Amino acid sequence: MQSALKVAAKGVAYRSPALLQRSLSWLAQQHTCRSGKLGRRSNNRVQPVLRHFVQPSAVVSAPVVEKQDQMAAPQTIYRKDYTPTPYLIKHVYLEFLLNEDSTHVISRLSMLPNYGSASAPPILELDGRKDIKLLTVKVAGKELQPSEYDLTEKLLTLSKLPKGEFEVEIKENTSLEGLYKSGGNFCTQCEAEGFRGITYFLDRPDVMAKYTTRIEADAKSYPVLLSNGNLLEQGSLEGGRHFAVWEDPFVKPCYLFALVAGDLAVREDSFKTMSGRTVTLRIYTRAKDIDRVAWAMESLKRAMKWDEDTFGLEYDLDLFNIVAVDDFNMGAMENKSLNIFNSRLVIASPSTSTDMDYSRVEGVVGHEYFHNWTGNRVTCRDWFQLTLKEGLTVFRDQEFSADLNSRPVKRIEDVMRLRTAQFVEDAGSMAHPIRPDSYIKMDNFYTLTVYEKGAEIVRLYQTLLGKDGFRKGMDLYFKRHDGQAVTCDDFRNAMADANGQDLSAFAAWYAQAGTPHVKIAASYNAANRTYTVKASQQTLPSPGQSEKGPVPIPVAVGLLGQDGTELPLNLKGESAEPATTKVLLLTEKEQEFVFTEVSEKPVPSLLRDFSAPVKLEVEGQTEDELVFLLAHDKDAFCRWEAGQRLLRSLLTSLYTSASASKEAKLEDRLSAAGAVPDKIVAAIGAVLSDKELDGAFVAAAISLPAAAELIGSIPNIDPVLLHNVRQYLVRELAARLRPELEAAIKRNESAAGASYVPGDSKQAAQRAIKNKALSYLSALKDPQVTADLLQRTRSATNMTDQISALACLVDSESPEREIALAEFYEQWKDDGLVMLKWIALQAGSNFEGNLKNVEKLVSHPAFSITNPNACYSLFLAFLRSPVNFHAADGSGYTFIADSILKVDKINRQVASRMVSSSAFTAWKDYDVERQQMMKEQLARINAENGLSENVFEIVSKSLEG
Ligand code: ARG
Ligand code: ZN
Repeated sequence: MQSALKVAAKGVAYRSPALLQRSLSWLAQQHTCRSGKLGRRSNNRVQPVLRHFVQPSAVVSAPVVEKQDQMAAPQTIYRKDYTPTPYLIKHVYLEFLLNEDSTHVISRLSMLPNYGSASAPPILELDGRKDIKLLTVKVAGKELQPSEYDLTEKLLTLSKLPKGEFEVEIKENTSLEGLYKSGGNFCTQCEAEGFRGITYFLDRPDVMAKYTTRIEADAKSYPVLLSNGNLLEQGSLEGGRHFAVWEDPFVKPCYLFALVAGDLAVREDSFKTMSGRTVTLRIYTRAKDIDRVAWAMESLKRAMKWDEDTFGLEYDLDLFNIVAVDDFNMGAMENKSLNIFNSRLVIASPSTSTDMDYSRVEGVVGHEYFHNWTGNRVTCRDWFQLTLKEGLTVFRDQEFSADLNSRPVKRIEDVMRLRTAQFVEDAGSMAHPIRPDSYIKMDNFYTLTVYEKGAEIVRLYQTLLGKDGFRKGMDLYFKRHDGQAVTCDDFRNAMADANGQDLSAFAAWYAQAGTPHVKIAASYNAANRTYTVKASQQTLPSPGQSEKGPVPIPVAVGLLGQDGTELPLNLKGESAEPATTKVLLLTEKEQEFVFTEVSEKPVPSLLRDFSAPVKLEVEGQTEDELVFLLAHDKDAFCRWEAGQRLLRSLLTSLYTSASASKEAKLEDRLSAAGAVPDKIVAAIGAVLSDKELDGAFVAAAISLPAAAELIGSIPNIDPVLLHNVRQYLVRELAARLRPELEAAIKRNESAAGASYVPGDSKQAAQRAIKNKALSYLSALKDPQVTADLLQRTRSATNMTDQISALACLVDSESPEREIALAEFYEQWKDDGLVMLKWIALQAGSNFEGNLKNVEKLVSHPAFSITNPNACYSLFLAFLRSPVNFHAADGSGYTFIADSILKVDKINRQVASRMVSSSAFTAWKDYDVERQQMMKEQLARINAENGLSENVFEIVSKSLEG
């Protein structure tokens, strides 16, 4: 403690004592004029205040979101250990004096006893980080002597506390973890535990307080000063400085605190709420980007309207701000009334953004806005409950996008992502339930499981209760819990109670990791006219969970007659009206359902709309049935799924025959194996040529299942062989469907000439099918096609067409590839966001030996290792190249391990995402040679000195496997 204090004393590099004085008097004023409102027993009040400074050196560039902890024995946190805090915080007064060379923070907390009738706890522990240089601590107005508190790297412990309410004032000089600089502007990211890097605090979501924030900075460099809530006051000060005071009238946990100070351009609009209030909407970006925020603004207004129409949820303040920053670890953050976004999710224009980018902007703007109710007004009791707000909010953004665009296509896209990424996570060494039981670093649990599988579990309620029942549950949830920090059980109980149902069995979905495997066997009895569906379920053991029980699984079923029409369904033992889709609720390990009065032997359409996040196996399902479903099913998801099942089993059988004999050339081995049946080619061709179908659906239906869907289902897979088999199938389909593909391109070409209308899904669908067809043709390596593609990269009138043409060229070495990449670079080198695409295409390229190019990219001026987006574009794209990441000589593994270690020294959250996105966490799925090489790299990372806890957690769990 002695030495810590010395550092603190040295750290007072505060330039102007006058500034410090002024801020103190502001705080004092806050105390006098607000004390009446603050305390119920103001005579009992003590005044603790906290002060600190920020060390600007640590805030110079990029997201120093959190500085590296030394690896002092990583500690595991358990959900079962939850206890409430002995004190709550009623009001937080924060003052930031921002400077280039030091930032000074003063915090005053009014503490409320929360220990009931128990005796007052002897100490108060506040979370912090070693980067905060504590200057002074006052409790109840009295400055503490060093002997009166204890300071360690992570905690400030105060003792000899007064009875009843009291205040703590802290002054400090910190590196402000959680506060960092991006593009010359100050911004914050506090979720999950960044606030403790800004000031000592009870940094946990169940401590909800009101915040008043004063920011002071140089007026010229930081003309815009923002925080949560309403602007109370602003003005100029001597020395070219100015200030702003913000007050947030709603209680919130500190992870929702935000501050922005910078030189930003703004676009303003407004929204009239359902009760007639006018809300001012502002989007801030750097000046160069401000003319590309129209789509984000439009999406925000649509989201506000949608939440009113769908859930009766209205915005609750008069101002809503979005700020775009270039350096951001994640997508975006829902800070109360001051959302901070990764700029790639705000900025959009037709010439620089793809259709996919547009739909992501819409989805994420919606997502963060929806958090205002699901996350902010009602928040999480502890971080284990993260899916309470994230699963629910992902579900809400999915429904928003589905209502505004093609619902079936949205559902298919969501299922694809779940299967190719979440299922993999759920089968690997990081497998965890949507409500985890423990963690070392919470940041590692912002996962596909918590988000996407969590959204699927929320969807189960809607599937069972119907939209109206679900809405009733939501209404009750807000009625009961507005302003509270609650658990996933509270949400489930609201759903249950509002509908008079017992949903307790659903608790199992929150507790159990792994994807349930459902088996269905069905049979028709012509004499009784019954159709019997036998279903069973099983979930494989996962790390730490060897025993698994059944979970409730709604299986939506339809039955098709021979002519493709849907048969009316009567379920034995049920009195409901016949319907064409019935939801069978599978609650046991094995169960049987009987449909009666079935007039003919039906073809079953199972798991309609993907009614549960499971793997489904249908016993005895024939190729003919799948071809029939692909042509006739009324349920778009099942229709698409039928095609995917055909292609998955085809890929599996091609892989099996290709791996049987390693002697002959792959092409010969495959064609010898009987190759691709005409039946399947014709079925795909029929979808491709069906002019009635939505083009985006067609594009999805003719796409081959991702390799990730097969890895894990074929033991000890050779990922390069799988890639080659997949490419062989692409070439076969391209060659045999060439006329149909060319016709589809021609038919949908008109969209290329038309001017781009953001959000016009018809146009986007035309581009989707045309570009999918082009990518098939490009596999043929026909010089004419290649020349045409080069031409398309030049003449494209929008980024969707331009980048897809370029993508068709990058997978093989050709002069056209080099020309197109060089021209694209010349055209876009000044646009950072477009350059991310250019980097990703090259990093993920699949021609052999591309690693040397990827290594060169790392030192290319378009790449910056301190920018998270750049790291994701380069390293995560490389991880998706089977040929180069999984190169047989292990060079890809070494490159990625080296890069993880390099990035970990700069940004541990990005580094840990590189590990968790890699096949390293699922090494058991691969052939023994690759297993060995992956384990070696994991061990090498694990042995690194000063490794972050973030990377350590994932690497060590992977090694344990
Ligand atoms: N709550 C943010 C969202 O909208 C994500 C925050 C991520 N933070 C983190 N430390 N991983 O989903
Ligand atoms: Zn979220």
